[in-house]
Formats: sequence, C-alpha cells, structure tokens
Amino acid sequence: MSHTTQLNVLFSRQQIGTTVARLAAEINRDYQGKRPLLVGVLKGSCILLSDLVRQLTIPVEIEFVALASYGRSTQSSGRVKVVKGLSDASVRGRDILIVEDILDTGLSLSRLLNYLKKKKPASVKICILLDKPSRRKVEVKVDYAGLIVPDRFIVGYGLDWNEQFRQLPDICVLEEI
Ligand code: IMP
Ligand code: MG
Repeated sequence: MSHTTQLNVLFSRQQIGTTVARLAAEINRDYQGKRPLLVGVLKGSCILLSDLVRQLTIPVEIEFVALASYGRSTQSSGRVKVVKGLSDASVRGRDILIVEDILDTGLSLSRLLNYLKKKKPASVKICILLDKPSRRKVEVKVDYAGLIVPDRFIVGYGLDWNEQFRQLPDICVLEEI
C-alpha cells in the first residue's frame, strides 16, 4: 500500500474570499449597535478569524479558546476538554460569536457552547467556514455557515493534518494515492 499523498483544490482562495465576505456582511447586519466578543477556536480558526475581522465594520473584541479531544482516535470518543478557556467575567453579559474552521461530528462545538453558556453571556452564536454534515454525531445550530464539504479530509486555510498544511491559501482535499 502506498502512503503518498496528494492535495486537490476543493475551494480556491477566490471562492473562500467570496464566502468570508458573505459571512462578514451577515455578521455586520445582525450585530448593528452591538460589540460582540469573537471567540476563535485554536488553532484552525486563526486564518478565518483574521480575514473575517478585517471585513467587520462593527466594533469587535477577540479572544481565543483551545479544545482537546481525548480518546483512541481523532474520530473523537466524545470527550472534549477546554484546555484554554475564558474567565467568567470576560463572558458574562457579552454577545459571543464563536468562530470555528469546520463543524464535523459536532462534539467540539457542543462542548464549547455548553462551556460558554454556563458563564451567562447575553447571547452565543456560531460562525463556521466549513460544514461536514455527513459525520454529525451531535446536532449543533449554526448561525453563519460558509461551505459544505464532502466526507473527506480537508486541509488548508487554517486546517491541518498533523499540524501541516495550515498555511495553504486554498482549501484542499488530502488524498492518499
Ligand atoms: P468535531 O468535534 O468532530 O466537530 O471536530 C471539529 C474539529 O475537528 C475541527 O475544529 C478540526 O480541528 C477537526 N477536523 C474535523 N474535520 C477535519 C478535516 O477534514 N480536516 C482537518 N481538521 C478537521
Ligand atoms: Mg479546530
């Protein structure tokens, strides 16, 4: 069996740009008169968050959280831990907008949603760039969604495989050939 891999472009940088602009327009419209706290999920959301905030015309603040899933594989055992969190005071009463690269099984975002809701925010919404609905285990309501991806392993634009390929400007499928 060969272990050679190949990257095939799924969404070009232009398609990503159009999508991020659309998400930003929706967020600008919905948060008029507000000052949301954008919560980026490390590390995958770093590129999306950077591109997104530069198209926001409303005042925003930025924070980061980090999650880790435990279990035998990356398929997720269902145990997701918040390894870098936020203080109760920084969330209480705020309009929180979670920014995440991809929604897959839903285990990470449902855990994060629970974690943040306990800190009594005024509201919590979710913005994702990619949605992989075929692998969902837990239903998660998303407010701003970019593009739907097939049940393949995706890299680029922040998404990694073993910490590699985050810097690719296009979103690619990592194929074994
Ligand atoms: P979930 O808890 O299964 O929804 O997992 C979401 C997390 O898994 C994302 O934040 C990504 O870090 C990672 N992930 C899921 N699918 C992919 C993929 O196709 N490529 C890279 N990372 C992925
Ligand atoms: Mg991630």
